[in-house]
Amino acid sequence: MQLSAEEEAMLSGAEGRATRKCIQILVALGEIYGAKKLIRVSSVQVSGVSYKNLGDAGIEFLSELAEDGKARVRTTLNPAGMSLTDWRAQGISETFAEKQLQVIEAYRRLGVEISCTCTPYLAGNEPALGDHIAWSESSAVVYSNSVLGARTNREGGPSALAASLTGRTPLYGYHLGENRQPTLAVDVRAELRSPEDFSAMGYFVGKAVKDGIPYFRGIRSAGVEELKTLSAALASSGGVSMFHMQGITPEAGAGPGKSEAIHFTETDLHETVALLNDDAVPDFVSVGCPHCSLPEVATIAGLLKGRKVTRALWVCCSREVKRQSDEAGYTTSILDSGARLATDTCMVVAPIEDLGYKVVATNSAKACHYLRNAGFKVRFLPLERCILESVR
Ligand code: F3S
Repeated sequence: MQLSAEEEAMLSGAEGRATRKCIQILVALGEIYGAKKLIRVSSVQVSGVSYKNLGDAGIEFLSELAEDGKARVRTTLNPAGMSLTDWRAQGISETFAEKQLQVIEAYRRLGVEISCTCTPYLAGNEPALGDHIAWSESSAVVYSNSVLGARTNREGGPSALAASLTGRTPLYGYHLGENRQPTLAVDVRAELRSPEDFSAMGYFVGKAVKDGIPYFRGIRSAGVEELKTLSAALASSGGVSMFHMQGITPEAGAGPGKSEAIHFTETDLHETVALLNDDAVPDFVSVGCPHCSLPEVATIAGLLKGRKVTRALWVCCSREVKRQSDEAGYTTSILDSGARLATDTCMVVAPIEDLGYKVVATNSAKACHYLRNAGFKVRFLPLERCILESVR
C-alpha cells in the first residue's frame, strides 16, 4: 500500500505509540481488502462503549491508547451501558457503573466527544454527500451511506478508533463508487403505514439480501423516523451497509436495471410482525432504537401527558435531543408519568437482565432481534401501543 510521508512517520512511531498501533491496524486492514492507499476521513463514530460488551480487556486496550493517543478528527461515541448521570435511578449496580465510567474516562482522554448516541446525525454530527467517514454503529452506517450519501465501511470499534487517532481509513469497499451500486431490487407491494412497518420490512429484506445493496421501489414517502428504523433493521437481520430508495435517497438514480428482484407484500409484513412477537406479557417497555428523534419524543410526551406508567418505560434518546425536549417542554410530561428519558444508553447495551426484566416491548425490529438473542422474550409493537402497554 502506498503511504504518504506523514503516514510513514506515523508508522515509524515518530508520532507516538498509540498512533503507530492505529496506523498498523489500518494498513493491515487495507492489505486484507486490497486498498491501494489510505484516505482522510472527516468524522468518526465509535461503537464498543458498553462495559457489558467490552469487559476488562476493552478497558485495558483503551487506557493504553489513551496514554499518548488523541483524536485527530471529530469523533462521537455510541451508547454506553447506562445513563452517565442517572444510572443509580436506573438501578445499575455500583460495580458496573465504576467500570463503565472507566471506559468513558478513557474515551474522554482520547479526545472523543462523550455523545453516547447511535443517531449522531440527529445530534450535530451530520456528514455531507460524498464525505469519507469511518463509522461503526451499524444502523448509523446504513443511514449515513444511504440517506446522507456519505461514504463509510461498517467499521469495528478498533478500526474506527484507529481512524480517529490517525484521521485516515483504507480506500476500499463503500468508499468507492463502483461498490455502491444496487445488487437487488425490492418491489414494495405492502402499504407502509408507520415507521414500525419500515422496521419490519428492513428485517425481512435484510435476511434476503444479506450483505448486498437493496434498491427499494414503490415507496411514496419516507422521513427520518422511517429511514432510521429501516436502516437499523436491515443491519440486524442481514449485513447490509447501504440501500437505495427510488426518488428518495440521493444516489438512487435509475435503479438496478434488469437485476434480480424480490417482493415485499402485505403477507410478508404480517408474517414478519408475527415472527417478532412472543406470546408473553411485557414487564419492561423501551422505545428509541435507534435513539428517538425530537418528533418521536413529542409524540411520546403527548401520549403520556397526565398518565402514570405501571411498567418501567425507557425513552432512549441522545443528550442533544433531550436538551431540545427540555426546551420544548416535553421532558416534564414524560418524567411526570414516571417514565425515564434514558440518555447515553439503550435497552440492548444496558445490563437490563440484571434489573430483573424478562419480556421487553419495543417498536424496533433490531431491538427485538438482539434482545431475543440475549434470552429475552419480545413484543414488537407500534410506538403508540408500546406507550399504552406501559400505562395499562
Ligand atoms: Fe441504538 Fe441501541 Fe438500537 S445502540 S440502534 S438503540 S440497539
